[in-house]
Amino acid sequence: MKLVIIGGTGLIGSKVVSRLREQGHEAVAAAPNTGVNTLTGAGLADALHGASVVVDVSNSPSFEEKAVMDFFTTSTRNLLTHAAAAGVKHYVALSVVGTEALTESPYMRAKNAQEALIKAGGIPYTIVHATQFFEFVARIADEATVGTTVRLPPVLIQPMAADDVAGAVASAAVGAPVNGTVDVAGPQQFRFDDLIRQGLVARNDARQVIADPHARYFGAELGERSLVPAGDARFGEIRFKDWLARS
Ligand SMILES: NC(=O)c1ccc[n+]([C@@H]2O[C@H](COP(=O)([O-])OP(=O)(O)OC[C@H]3O[C@@H](n4cnc5c(N)ncnc54)[C@H](OP(=O)(O)O)[C@@H]3O)[C@@H](O)[C@H]2O)c1
Repeated sequence: MKLVIIGGTGLIGSKVVSRLREQGHEAVAAAPNTGVNTLTGAGLADALHGASVVVDVSNSPSFEEKAVMDFFTTSTRNLLTHAAAAGVKHYVALSVVGTEALTESPYMRAKNAQEALIKAGGIPYTIVHATQFFEFVARIADEATVGTTVRLPPVLIQPMAADDVAGAVASAAVGAPVNGTVDVAGPQQFRFDDLIRQGLVARNDARQVIADPHARYFGAELGERSLVPAGDARFGEIRFKDWLARS
């Protein structure tokens, strides 16, 4: 089976490509540096020729409000058009747990717009909602830093390793379309401020993390359960402490 992985050179994409190839599938990594650009459409028709499945794990280079909205809407429209023309049978995309409620965040609004296009796009689909990646802890800390202080709300978070995210995406890609959303999360819950504190300490980063209930996460104020799956979810196996020890 031929699967095209849009963003197949990225953190999650490269792991998805490896897993699918290990399973004997033809997995094509599509990204600007392999000649495929979903914003311009360049290379899409060739890459998708003969593909059964498209997996979109691309990400916007900029999280600025207009840029991120343009990225996810333009790239998704182009991808849906070319996928339909190529006769693709299953459209898989990676998004974020809780996206639909976090509308104060420009990034989450763009992910919601991406999801709405996929749902209305006419191709059978599966949207995988993952929690925050362990690999994203440093970026979260940077975003929440003023001076030497990191402010985050002490709400629940259930982060996961990129390896577990890739496993969930690869398994969705070879499965039947669910025409809905599948939630995946890590094996343990943390308090958000405590998770980031542990991550910084492990990197000998001296920034102080302060629990501030009104601190925003990429523009959104969070509720106690905004970042954890609301209903059924599948769980990864890799624990944060083990991942830290390995990284
Ligand atoms: N970070 C988190 O905690 C989290 C949680 C849940 C879900 N997610 C979702 O996970 C997804 C993947 O994230 P990631 O961290 O793996 O991303 P990443 O490492 O930044 O990789 C992004 C990929 O997208 C490609 N790309 C960028 N512009 C493109 C374009 N115009 N056309 C085609 N490909 C393009 C990049 O290619 P180049 O390298 O060639 O530019 C790269 O392969 C995102 O959609 C994100 O919303 C993230």
